[in-house]
Amino acid sequence: MGLFTGKKGIIMGVVNEYSLATGVAKYLISEGAQIGFSHLPDKDGRDRMAKRIQRVAEPLGISFIKPCDVSIDDDITRFYAEVGESFGKIDFVLHSIAFAPLEDLRCPTLESSREGFKLGMDISVYSFIAVARAAAKVMNNGGAMVTMSYFGGERVIDGYNMMGVCKAALEMATRYLAFDLGPRNIRVNALSAGPMKTLAASAVGDFSRMLNSHAKGAPLMRNVTQEDVGKTCGFLLSDMSSGTTGEILHVDCGYSIMGSHEHVEERTKQY
Ligand SMILES: NC(=O)c1ccc[n+]([C@@H]2O[C@H](COP(=O)([O-])OP(=O)(O)OC[C@H]3O[C@@H](n4cnc5c(N)ncnc54)[C@H](O)[C@@H]3O)[C@@H](O)[C@H]2O)c1
Repeated sequence: MGLFTGKKGIIMGVVNEYSLATGVAKYLISEGAQIGFSHLPDKDGRDRMAKRIQRVAEPLGISFIKPCDVSIDDDITRFYAEVGESFGKIDFVLHSIAFAPLEDLRCPTLESSREGFKLGMDISVYSFIAVARAAAKVMNNGGAMVTMSYFGGERVIDGYNMMGVCKAALEMATRYLAFDLGPRNIRVNALSAGPMKTLAASAVGDFSRMLNSHAKGAPLMRNVTQEDVGKTCGFLLSDMSSGTTGEILHVDCGYSIMGSHEHVEERTKQY
């Protein structure tokens, strides 16, 4: 009997085997969950994205894979109607989605454009609100939702730029959604994950440097793994966290507790 035996839910944001959401899917399935995936539709009508996701889904035994562009309200409505038809009621949703135009992400925040900012906020923040609204309609009371954030939404991280502003807004949206859905006993939390090499992360300038400095500066002296993220997200999506909502939980090897990252390496010599 696993932690998720008899539980059903949706994971939005798998694009390949490196996605944070893939780590979560693997863990939830190992604990007995039944899962469906959404994916970003191809603009040219070809099925490249669906085929990509299929490569992740097939070994996990996932057959519900449907397109959903979270910047389009009708897509979200249609997607969750299909979820209701196939699953009946669901118990959990993971929103693991972010996007901003490269030119607005790679430049100083000061130089980001109005259109780029609007798009970044729309796909990386508003989409969680729209998804929560649609998903709640097919969710059991006692269900849980999680979104993915990063420390760059709390403190300035060189290179994270405008996405840091989006993550700050996403974290606050998480708290307000937790307030709104609390009366239905639906919990809403965010996971603030340490950096991991993924497709979306490649948009962040000098990501290798970020990985390096996190590994050196974190109390655990390493970067997080997909397994770390999967298990902690599983905690937030399961009944194990039944009294926790509106929380931003760090899974970052402790990086965010540090006031200074100087001399961290010297600790190995002490113990
Ligand atoms: N990789 C990291 O270091 C890291 C750290 C902390 C938080 N995060 C967050 O985790 C989440 C997942 O990112 P990831 O790193 O796994 O990268 P990823 O590229 O694997 O996932 C990003 C997902 O967003 C989807 N997406 C983008 N625009 C969309 C749209 N309009 N409609 C539907 N889907 C759309 C992509 O298709 C993809 O599946 C993001 O919110 C990211 O900011 C990532």
